[in-house]
Amino acid sequence: IPVDPFDLVIFGGTGDLARRKILPALFRRFCAGQMEDNSRIIGAARADMDDAGYRDFVREAIAEFNTGPATCEAGTVDGFLERVGYVAVDAMGEDGWEELGRRMRDRNVVQAFYFSVGPSLFGALAERLHAHGMAGEGTRIVVEKPFGRDEASARALNATLAEHFDESQIYRIDHYLGKETVQNLMAVRFGNMLFEPLWNSQYVDHIQITVAETVGVGGRGEYYDKSGAMRDMMQNHLMQLLCLIAMEPPAKFDPDAVRDEKLKVIRALDPVEPQDIVRGQYTGGDGQPDYRTQVENPDSRTESFVALKARISNWRWAGTPFYLRTGKRLRAKVSEIAVVFKETPHSIFTEDAGRHRNILTIRLQPNEGMDLGVTIKEPGPGGMRLVDVPLDMTFADALGPDAEDVPDAYERLIMDVIRGNQTLFMRGDEVVAAWAWTDPIIAAWEERGEAPKPYDSGSSGPEDALALLHHDGRRWRDIR
Ligand code: BG6
Repeated sequence: IPVDPFDLVIFGGTGDLARRKILPALFRRFCAGQMEDNSRIIGAARADMDDAGYRDFVREAIAEFNTGPATCEAGTVDGFLERVGYVAVDAMGEDGWEELGRRMRDRNVVQAFYFSVGPSLFGALAERLHAHGMAGEGTRIVVEKPFGRDEASARALNATLAEHFDESQIYRIDHYLGKETVQNLMAVRFGNMLFEPLWNSQYVDHIQITVAETVGVGGRGEYYDKSGAMRDMMQNHLMQLLCLIAMEPPAKFDPDAVRDEKLKVIRALDPVEPQDIVRGQYTGGDGQPDYRTQVENPDSRTESFVALKARISNWRWAGTPFYLRTGKRLRAKVSEIAVVFKETPHSIFTEDAGRHRNILTIRLQPNEGMDLGVTIKEPGPGGMRLVDVPLDMTFADALGPDAEDVPDAYERLIMDVIRGNQTLFMRGDEVVAAWAWTDPIIAAWEERGEAPKPYDSGSSGPEDALALLHHDGRRWRDIR
């Protein structure tokens, strides 16, 4: 689908996110024919560099981080680079702003500014864009997480941005919303008759959301040690997944209708009791250093793992717990949502036939797809014995090779910015509500001075996290 010509300025254009994600994503959209001849990408950062220098930087970023697609032929990189430029800009000072303003003037295209910088610079950038005539009505700004570190700071950021931009111009990124399966979740829920009638506490026993990573904190120790898993993952990515799973059907698939329903879910969340949350921190193993060594803070009490039981107090979900967990250095990289249905109310079979439950598993990564466990008779003469078989909807199998070339989350989200579609972006009030739920949880453990439980690298997290479900007569799905 073609998109209008655009100018995209990337503040933090020489940073890690630009290199790993934003620039390769733009390159792939270029390959897919979504960048008209007069579209441009302008890197903006403090580094003293000219257009040619930045093009070299971009070329290297693509060589290192672009994962496909095969249709992008050799030589295409040059075509892409022709659209790339650079302006050295000092976010806190005056240097470079005149020049940036000059380049953006009299361009009859969509203009967007990507704030790929820390939140402490958001205000300064918004201010200077305004002062130099770049904050017109059609302008869009894209802001990265973390959007604040608590409710008060998120509110302050909203207020700062609102001084120069309307909410309809602000695109707060949560890249989980750009993942193909996450959008598919909405298609499955609201495009089929089959699931929605069962999608409530009468039929659903509980829901598990797991985002497990094998990587550690890597070179991001300084940021991460001040955040931890609760702020880095739970408040945003897992919360967004929870919202999409739990929300009421919006009347329309439009930005405010969807975001209104998500907001209602967040506001209906109960506070989390201390016994319903487990924090962990990885120890060394497999030749890898432990968390504290990695973040160079021998006394760190920051969690690299968190698991909790959430409850949504509304008609649909009262009585159905949502178990959420996320962590680093775990056994496997898996992101999945499992909807575990209740057992049949009565079994007509003998006891040795066994009791079974249907489980709908939605896999975000790897092997994106879904499967529905269905109980059938074990084939053969052994009498009526039941087994579970998956109705497998691995996208790549079901939809052919096209499904294998799923666009990266950033590709979709950046193109949505250009199209002016905010459905997959967080609204200011959503982010604030998510922090309002998170803050007391963090405050409670800080007050108790509680240290996170150690867990081995390559494991499924601390033992106590297993107990969280055992107490309720349930068990986590394996991380593998
Ligand atoms: C980021 C977090 O938002 O998401 C990282 O800051 C995390 O700590 C990453 O590793 C996970 O994203 P993905 O797409 O690899 O699951």
